[in-house]
Amino acid sequence: MKYRLAAFIVVLAALGACQTETKTETSEQPIMKVEDPHSYAKPEESVVTHLDWHAMVDFDSTIITAKASLSIENAENAKELVLDAKDLNVSKITLGKDDEQPAEYQLGQSDKIMGAPLTIKITPDVRTVNIYYTTSPKAEALQWLSPTQTSGKKYPFLFTQSEAILARTWVPIQDSPGIRFTYTADVEVPSELLALMSARNPQKKDEEGKYHFKMEQPIPAYLLALAVGDLEFESISDRTGVYAEPSVVETAKYEFGELEEMVSAAEELYGDYQWGRYDIIVLPPSFPFGGMENPRLTFATPTILAGDRSLTSLVAHELAHSWSGNLVTNATWNDFWLNEGFTVYFEHRIMEKLYGKDYSEMLASLAAQDLKAEVADMQENNMAGDTRLRLELEGRNPDDGVTSIAYDKGYLFLRYLEEAAGREKFDAFVKDYFSRNAFKSMTTEEFIKQLDEYLLTEGRINIGMVKINEWIHQPGLPDDIPTPTSDRFGKVDEELKKFIMGTPPAELDTANWSSHEWLHFVRSIPDSIAKEHFAELDEAFAFTKTGNSEVVAAWLEQSINNNYAPADQRLEDFLVHTGRRKFLVPLYKALIQTEDGKKRALEIYEKARPNYHFVSTNTLDEMLNWEEYN
Ligand code: BES
Ligand code: ZN
Repeated sequence: MKYRLAAFIVVLAALGACQTETKTETSEQPIMKVEDPHSYAKPEESVVTHLDWHAMVDFDSTIITAKASLSIENAENAKELVLDAKDLNVSKITLGKDDEQPAEYQLGQSDKIMGAPLTIKITPDVRTVNIYYTTSPKAEALQWLSPTQTSGKKYPFLFTQSEAILARTWVPIQDSPGIRFTYTADVEVPSELLALMSARNPQKKDEEGKYHFKMEQPIPAYLLALAVGDLEFESISDRTGVYAEPSVVETAKYEFGELEEMVSAAEELYGDYQWGRYDIIVLPPSFPFGGMENPRLTFATPTILAGDRSLTSLVAHELAHSWSGNLVTNATWNDFWLNEGFTVYFEHRIMEKLYGKDYSEMLASLAAQDLKAEVADMQENNMAGDTRLRLELEGRNPDDGVTSIAYDKGYLFLRYLEEAAGREKFDAFVKDYFSRNAFKSMTTEEFIKQLDEYLLTEGRINIGMVKINEWIHQPGLPDDIPTPTSDRFGKVDEELKKFIMGTPPAELDTANWSSHEWLHFVRSIPDSIAKEHFAELDEAFAFTKTGNSEVVAAWLEQSINNNYAPADQRLEDFLVHTGRRKFLVPLYKALIQTEDGKKRALEIYEKARPNYHFVSTNTLDEMLNWEEYN
């Protein structure tokens, strides 16, 4: 096997030990191949290194017609290239760049989660494989919105969501986070619309609706992204800006006004931003996540446009992924905590740098609260195995790993290491980790190895392997887990106590509370308080009407649990118009606790479901037993 090929997909066993800047390409060290249970690809035989994508986006049929030309590198005796494909209609495959020759290929049996292997016969000298295909209108990564589902109500909209393993529903590719490739794209869309990708992007519409894209740094398939809509660009700084529908773009520009400061803060912490520009696109409300770290162009939900910049820690999070995730990438979805735990840690550090420790400690407290609740919930529901940082997701949907374990247990583990090593030493390790492993993938095992070599055995930190292994491989939470304490939340607790003891809401000291304080306040309202108190609080603080999505979501959950009827209509509106899974899941879950609530949940879901992306319906269909009712 050629070494260059392997360097894309392996973690070099000896890399961590090298004191000098030895490049993987020239090293003679033995290699370990990383098996990805969620991809059919056999990169050790033939690996994709570049994609040229030619596509036509058709809103009438909700189909993309495309040609994917893949550059490949092969082992000496390579016989086949294996790609991942799901719900793609392949019409033809050819080999060669200028003189294309028909290829033999086979689309295997399709698995409900993984899709099918697309196996193409090659010889070792083949450099280019061209796949002609169309996507299915059901393609799980794609959400096609009608004009009424957008803010402007005049034009349709399309966006993709590829993480974790949905890229294969719109591009035939080796859909494994351990395999990286560069790409270009030529995309044709209706001439009234702008197209954007996770690449070098246009800032203006093209008269003919023809756009060219280029991503020069190698990325894994889950970072392939496309958005098409009536979009405008507003610049924030030389290298940052925002795209959104015309009616949203000014609000967005204000909300992200501190974007340049954020990028600079991140760079000061852990090294230069490696991707050129950093822009954000604000999507329509059906976007199933808060944010998605598509390189050069973070995709964001409009639910963070609070009007007061109070929810921009989400931007810090997606920005942080430009290092943790996009630069150093989890090798498989079992190592997902390496992406998200590092990112939450980095996010909090950015927020601390910009707004102070008392601010970031609020975020840390919320993370610890979420984590404790989720661990308890998982233990009750026979899911204790999934409370380990390193997961075992073979045969399962990688989405099962998207819990607060990866995020918040991951975060607290890194904070634990920081507290043990001291900030200076820990930061040196993290900075070095990002630069040493840039544009490579990382397994949990390799992380432990590098941690051991750089922090533990050097005697820079007084904890042993036993402890590290407990954090990573044992279920539940270690008993010496860091406990963030927030003074600002302490004050919130005091005010809430006063209210419970009879102080009227108007007399509570809530001046200058951020949305995090309000969120903590609402979450902490005990179930024992009388129902009239709900009305009293609502009258004083207008929770039912608030435009802050985090606060209203927490309030609506409380309202369901406490039968506070005046919030009913808002609940329905919120569920019908918001597609962000993080808000939907707790609200539907609260509803289905009672028979009446379950009926109501299904009635609302029937109306709302057409507005949700596959990622959200896939979770909610199961939770609500939707198939049974239909
Ligand atoms: N990369 C994730 C979103 C994701 C995870 C998509 C797994 C598909 C599979 C993104 O960075 C994320 O974590 N988003 C959070 C943001 C929050 C933690 C600040 C979200 O959407 O809520
Ligand atoms: Zn994330």
